[in-house]
Amino acid sequence: MNDTPHAPPPSLPPNIDPLAPERHGPLSFDGIRELDTNPPRIWTVIYITSALAAIWLVVAYPAIPMLSGSTHGVFEWGSRASLTAAAQKAEANPTDIQVRFAQASIEQAEADPLLKDYALAAGRAAFGENCAGCHGRKGQGVVGFPNLTDKDWLWGGSVEAIQHTLQVGVRWPGSDDARVSQMPAFGEQHVLERAQVIDLVEYVRSLSGMPHDAAAATRAAGTFTDNCAACHGEGGGGNQEVGAPNLTDDIWLYGGSREAIYNTIWHSRGGVMPAFGKRLSDDTIRKLVITVRAFGGGE
Ligand code: HEC
Ligand code: HEC
Repeated sequence: MNDTPHAPPPSLPPNIDPLAPERHGPLSFDGIRELDTNPPRIWTVIYITSALAAIWLVVAYPAIPMLSGSTHGVFEWGSRASLTAAAQKAEANPTDIQVRFAQASIEQAEADPLLKDYALAAGRAAFGENCAGCHGRKGQGVVGFPNLTDKDWLWGGSVEAIQHTLQVGVRWPGSDDARVSQMPAFGEQHVLERAQVIDLVEYVRSLSGMPHDAAAATRAAGTFTDNCAACHGEGGGGNQEVGAPNLTDDIWLYGGSREAIYNTIWHSRGGVMPAFGKRLSDDTIRKLVITVRAFGGGE
């Protein structure tokens, strides 16, 4: 008996397919026999399963784009929701180091190499995201945005001072307890004459030992005592209580050129820094304090 599938047993007429005898293929044509063999069963199974799976996915998950968003699917699943869930789970099961960091003071964390590395890893990322836009990627600052890597602090470089600055911001309208202190616009508000301001520029430059007109500086000494010393100190050394910069160190927030100093005195400046107390968690702020101090300017 010949049981090769494609060679029909001689008992069957030539137009009957031995694998699907109930169906009749066309007759042979030009000596070639067209058969009507069913596809392997497994193909049919895969085909039907995929069709059912496609329908299931459309019903169960976000699938069909709508004008805004898409259909939600019966499970209300979303990549954002699963991210939130993962974050909540991570917070509910803090790792040892998270617990230790939360329990340590900032000073203790700074003294413990493991905790410090942990704080810096997260703190640098948070700095890049929240601070680098103004203070520069490495905290180096630009005109109007203070350098955080030097020891020249407006509001103080101690742990408490930096933490407070981050929490409440500076002159930030959205924060009731923001650090505020406003240098008057001495020219604009007609407190001083133009000539007095021009003399004061020379006086301010003399404080840092920069080239200056000595006669003008001498004329301005009294004006400085009367109008400026209350905030900047009698000798111009600054006062962190009111965020008044040290004018004797040749480090300039707004520039030490005659023009820049003139503009500062005439218009005043009033730099603004946002408050982060409500935007970032306490622990993130603590990590940022450690990061800022690690820039090298910490007291
Ligand atoms: C929108 C710009 C802006 C952003 C964002 C910003 N800052 Fe500031 N920051 C400033 C300005 C402006 C000042 C100075 C304000 C002043 O004139 O006293 C300042 C001051 C500071 C000071 C005080 C410096 C000193 O000498 O006492 C610290 C510390 C500081 N920023 C850290 C940060 C950190 C950390 C972040 C991120 C969490 C941040 N800043 C985000 C603009 C910004
Ligand atoms: C009420 C306090 C106050 C008084 C009074 C005051 N200043 Fe200021 N001064 C500040 C503060 C605060 C800043 C810096 C912060 C800012 O405005 O962003 C500043 C900044 C400056 C700067 C810029 C320093 C830099 O690093 O770029 C100069 C220069 C200056 N003051 C000079 C003067 C002179 C001169 C007078 C007197 C005519 C004066 N200030 C009076 C508070 C004061």
